[in-house]
Amino acid sequence: MKKILSVFLCLLMVFSCASALADGLKVGVSMPTKDLQRWNQDGENMKNMLEEAGFEVDLQFASNDVQQQLNQVTNMVNNGCKVVVISAVEGSSLGSALDLAKEKGVIVIAYDRLLMDSDAVSYYATFDNYKVGSVQGNYIKDALKLDEAEGPFTLEITAGDPGDNNAIYFYNGAMDVLKPYIESGKLVVKSGQQEFNDVATPSWKTETAQTRADGILSSYYADGTKLDAWLCSNDSTALGVANALDANYDGDWPIITGQDCDISNMKNLIDGKQAMSVFKDTRTLAAQVVKMIGQALNGEEVEVNDTTTYNNNVITVPSFLCEPVFGNADNWVELLIDSGYYLMGDDGYPVVKQ
Ligand code: BGC
Repeated sequence: MKKILSVFLCLLMVFSCASALADGLKVGVSMPTKDLQRWNQDGENMKNMLEEAGFEVDLQFASNDVQQQLNQVTNMVNNGCKVVVISAVEGSSLGSALDLAKEKGVIVIAYDRLLMDSDAVSYYATFDNYKVGSVQGNYIKDALKLDEAEGPFTLEITAGDPGDNNAIYFYNGAMDVLKPYIESGKLVVKSGQQEFNDVATPSWKTETAQTRADGILSSYYADGTKLDAWLCSNDSTALGVANALDANYDGDWPIITGQDCDISNMKNLIDGKQAMSVFKDTRTLAAQVVKMIGQALNGEEVEVNDTTTYNNNVITVPSFLCEPVFGNADNWVELLIDSGYYLMGDDGYPVVKQ
């Protein structure tokens, strides 16, 4: 109840602050794809909150296609948007649209993913991406009792899209915890694949993660070797790994990590097929961005809490980092149902609110 009240109060403050200048102003919101649940929610949250605050909203999804997103953002700028909020398909590929935005005085906000190689980016709002990885790495460390147990334990790793600046933060956050144990031999990566480029998953695709996991399982674990843990940077890749295990692995189910608390993964989590996820409340992120927009348009100081971490190769972008939260089978009801993020389905699994 307290949580619902605080989300409500937070939204109320956001709306009253942003609505002062909102009337008649157009905001473009460009999301990478409709394929993953989280981007639909992010897009809808942004649209609803911005409209409540009195803005006109042009919401577009880019089908994970760089050229499509480039065209969409260019059109937003040409069609009079005063602000564009962008979660990039590929962080470095929107240069010409961003240059145009800068030329026309449009405020550019990087949403969740940093826009790279451009000085046209005004602000960045995201979750603490390194911390997401640390939470995953520490979970594996604690669950396997790496400091106390004798081991060795086996580990495999699946990271995210090399075109997404977040992916390396997730990977580093987790590997900074796990690497010392790999170096000491307590954790053994049997496939030998552990550098970011060897474990990355283009476009974060479930199928790509699954195909790679299929290959690893049949090459290194088909002889009955026990697999103890699979570090997955997010839920879409964790789903691919779980599918591969279902098809190709007979041993005890390993620890699998994830992030986003996607509906399909919550089912796996409740069924014991995914050990944890990281909840990133997209309502909080969207509310923060709406607040940023209001402050920037009002000429007020824009609230940020990190001015050193996110350098995009040209500038260090003033950022607001929201807090990611650990989620597992013990706390998901409180985290996701009691807070009103999902509804409880008749079958005991969560469902998306319509
Ligand atoms: C987001 C993750 C998401 C991934 C795949 C990342 O940029 O931060 O939450 O799982 O993209 O869409």
